[in-house]
Amino acid sequence: MNRPGSLVLLLGLCANAIAAPLDEPLKPLPPKPHLDARRVELGRQLFHDPRLSINNTLSCASCHQLDKSGADTRAFSNGFDGQPVAVNTPTVFNASLNFRQFWDGRVETLEEQSNVVITSPHEMGSDWNTVVQRIADDAAYGQSFRAAYPDAVSRANIQNALATYERTLLTPDSRFDQYLLGNTDILTLEEKYGYQRFKEYGCIACHQGVNIGGNMFQKFGVFGDYIADRGNPTVADQGRFNVTGDEDDRAVFKVPSLRNVALTAPYFHDGSAPTLERAVDVMFQYQLGRMPSEEDKTLIILFLKTLTGHPEGQP
Ligand code: HEC
Ligand code: HEC
Repeated sequence: MNRPGSLVLLLGLCANAIAAPLDEPLKPLPPKPHLDARRVELGRQLFHDPRLSINNTLSCASCHQLDKSGADTRAFSNGFDGQPVAVNTPTVFNASLNFRQFWDGRVETLEEQSNVVITSPHEMGSDWNTVVQRIADDAAYGQSFRAAYPDAVSRANIQNALATYERTLLTPDSRFDQYLLGNTDILTLEEKYGYQRFKEYGCIACHQGVNIGGNMFQKFGVFGDYIADRGNPTVADQGRFNVTGDEDDRAVFKVPSLRNVALTAPYFHDGSAPTLERAVDVMFQYQLGRMPSEEDKTLIILFLKTLTGHPEGQP
């Protein structure tokens, strides 16, 4: 008898059975949109400009470090005053694909997002008069704004330039996207099984669509109270309740995107999971109410690692 041979045959058949990425609940990253290159470039400069913070210490890129997957490695970044902010910094990569911005989804557009962070007394601590004045006083900016916008430097144009730039911050060509686009051989059998487990266990019910998350709100702690178990509850832990005042929205958060998740530790709105393994354990316990076999967990983590893409043209 030829056991290894039949095992290979069996695995081959299974691989075929799960090889066809038709009509999948996860969708490939869309192509980079065609945008005015002058506005993109202005947005890029503004994104890296510490003059957006009141004391000239922090740019957007201080917390959203493009060489660190668009976030930083701390549980909580420090604001302009050196004090930690209330929630973990999410990545800016692919943020344009989220249906709302922020953990509690309190803003709908990237334009409004920059308003909130620039004027937040905990983050950049500035105000629009100051920001517009500083940018308008810079001759080079003045020239570039006049070329890109009929009405030159204004609050709305600064917000538009930042948002336009952020729409270019996509991370294409992850191995999983290539798989979805038909290159089915690019994933190992284990990674394909991991994707299958991700669907079978029900991770897919919440992390789905083009951003593998970012398209719905869900309670954090469906089975058990994660925040009580963690201890020291904060106002930020109330999630969408802070926006709606609705009791049903306590501890409800935007389901985060899992694109590039292997690179964005620590995890959760409170930065409380230092590793991907820990985050996946928490998800099984508190979102699904069950524990998987070690093997299935390993397979799912292997699948999650195929979601790492490649930022285009980032310095
Ligand atoms: C002090 C660190 C810090 C700075 C500076 C900062 N951010 Fe953020 N950013 C955060 C944190 C923390 C959040 C999450 C806040 C929340 O959910 O309430 C966030 C959220 C975001 C989001 C939403 C992402 C999502 O998935 O919800 C975007 C987009 C973003 N920031 C862009 C910017 C831009 C543009 C700037 C500069 C104008 C900027 N940030 C400056 C820390 C920072
Ligand atoms: C009922 C909805 C739901 C299910 C099911 C679910 N998740 Fe989540 N997931 C969430 C929410 C909500 C968060 C954000 C929690 C927070 O930080 O407040 C999250 C966060 C995460 C994070 C951390 C992401 C980050 O950037 O901080 C990972 C990783 C993750 N989920 C993986 C999984 C995996 C793997 C499964 C299946 C084993 C799963 N999730 C099942 C809703 C869900």
